[in-house]
Amino acid sequence: GPFLIAAAVLGYLLGSIPFGLLLTRLAGLGDIRNIGSGNIGATNVLRTGNKGLALATLLLDGGKGAAAVLLARVVQDDLAVVAGAFAFLGHVFPVWLKFKGGKGVATALGTWLALAWPIGILACLSWLIIALIFRYSSLSALLAVALAPVYAIWLGTPPLVWFGIGVAILVWIRHHENIRRLLKGEEPKIGKKKPAPA
Ligand code: G3P
Repeated sequence: GPFLIAAAVLGYLLGSIPFGLLLTRLAGLGDIRNIGSGNIGATNVLRTGNKGLALATLLLDGGKGAAAVLLARVVQDDLAVVAGAFAFLGHVFPVWLKFKGGKGVATALGTWLALAWPIGILACLSWLIIALIFRYSSLSALLAVALAPVYAIWLGTPPLVWFGIGVAILVWIRHHENIRRLLKGEEPKIGKKKPAPA
């Protein structure tokens, strides 16, 4: 019905706001897509050396996913997962950037926190523990998003399990270059710079 479409559009529009790109541009750091991995996310914003900006990117990219879920839930509970899914898709495929967006990790985590906070907390903790041990943002993201639907089988409902599987597949696809670098031992650790992509 109309509410379903409204939740999808609202989620997509919120999700498609590229905070990492906007904040680094406002800070006079140039185009984040020409720095490090070229990604618009918090991990790459950290490569500018500005930790505050990276944290703000993380919180805003996560916050927009959470906001989409919470706003849709005001109207109807079932719409929350739709809005969250479209916020995630908006971040990864934003119309403003010719559909070339981010890798979706922060937005997925923010969405999880608002959809089912115990799953969200477990996913964030998974990211953190793996990051503390191995120091690769991408590896942490890959494992955390893969674990989230497993947590959802345990603590969630079928729509959340399907949401989690879909998110995990897309996040893995978006990390294909990171996966190749991880396998070659060439992935930079968190906070380390790397040459701009050719
Ligand atoms: O959230 C994205 C992160 O997992 C990898 O970012 O810039 O190292 O490709 P990046």
